[in-house]
Amino acid sequence: MSERKTITSTDAVHAGDDKRKPYDAVPMSIVPTSTYSFADTAEIVAYTEGRHADGERGEYGRYGNPTVRAVERRLAALEGTDDAVLFSSGMAAVTTSTLALTKSGQHIVLFQDCYRRTLEFVTDVLARFGVNHTLLKAGDVAGLADALRPETRLVMSESPTNPYLSCVDLERIAAACKTRRTVKSMIDATFATPVNCRPASFGIDLVVHSATKYLAGHNDVLAGVVCGPSGLLSMIRDLRGVLGAVCDPHAAFLVGRGMKTLSLRVERQNATALAVAEWLETHPRVERVFYPGLSSHPSHAVARAQMRGFGGVVSFIVKGGLSGASRMVDACKLARIGPSFGGVETLIEQPAVMSYYEMTTEQREAIGIADGLIRLAVGIEDAADLVADLAQALSA
Ligand SMILES: Cc1ncc(COP(=O)(O)O)c(C=O)c1O
Repeated sequence: MSERKTITSTDAVHAGDDKRKPYDAVPMSIVPTSTYSFADTAEIVAYTEGRHADGERGEYGRYGNPTVRAVERRLAALEGTDDAVLFSSGMAAVTTSTLALTKSGQHIVLFQDCYRRTLEFVTDVLARFGVNHTLLKAGDVAGLADALRPETRLVMSESPTNPYLSCVDLERIAAACKTRRTVKSMIDATFATPVNCRPASFGIDLVVHSATKYLAGHNDVLAGVVCGPSGLLSMIRDLRGVLGAVCDPHAAFLVGRGMKTLSLRVERQNATALAVAEWLETHPRVERVFYPGLSSHPSHAVARAQMRGFGGVVSFIVKGGLSGASRMVDACKLARIGPSFGGVETLIEQPAVMSYYEMTTEQREAIGIADGLIRLAVGIEDAADLVADLAQALSA
């Protein structure tokens, strides 16, 4: 695979996967152990000194598991990085990685449109422990150079972002960080997946995913991952062993199984979302559509330059404000109402009600959440069925 190339379906099935598995089974096995036994003291000593014949074996479940390790190797192969560390959720990946790279007195730069809980972690939780931050306006990559300080250790962004699907110029972010030896870049690429964009190939140091979404793909498991160079990842892996946000082997199996169809699913979701976005843009009851594959989207040029497809999430504002959007969402018959995205079932939500209910309209507007905004996360149903469902819901 050339560095910049995104993954193919063959990669999704085979990259990083062991050809020979225990008992010659085709899929990987689940090893549900919390601990590992040793034959005798000599074996413990050999293990501790790194001389054990089975270099892969563990000592205790919090420090490693063969099912988890197999999925980590495949994730690293898909993102084109040295290594990957799997976690119990996307937030566990974000928080553990951030904690591993910063300490009191140091500084993080992040963008206003980062995932809500990532923002909360940096601006509320880390602030309590003396880690400072600068919050840049959404998409303000030009402001990055001025925001960097001698004590800056991390620059965090997403691409595309939620819910407006803005894309940042990854090469510019990587270049700005590389002007300082001590600054690492971290991109949450949950919305992109390695089918559409591989941030490490643009020079980004750490790539994070909520594996709960497209990687696992079936709305049935929570997991997260960080991919990157082995030096940084070994610090993050060690801290995972201390903080304990490990991925259960059953959950890891589900992520690994979902990844086999990642490319098939995401390619279908790319195509359906583009068709739906183009259709919505012509609908008289729709005020505005946000999808990076549309030429009307502010990030279209950046997205076209660095993405193969534009993902499965489409956001749009309907006429009629809060109640107009609620009527439309309630009238959907195929799309299920719920947060999250990246699964095989289409999900629809009104952010003003789902995630920002406690705020007033004015407070929501101040952070850019319109009352009539709807986020549609397309699944793998037929595009025509989805459009028909949205059409009848918009006429409600
Ligand atoms: C972009 C993004 N990053 C991280 C997370 C957190 O992931 P998880 O829910 O798996 O903890 C989410 C969750 O919605 C997300 O949308």
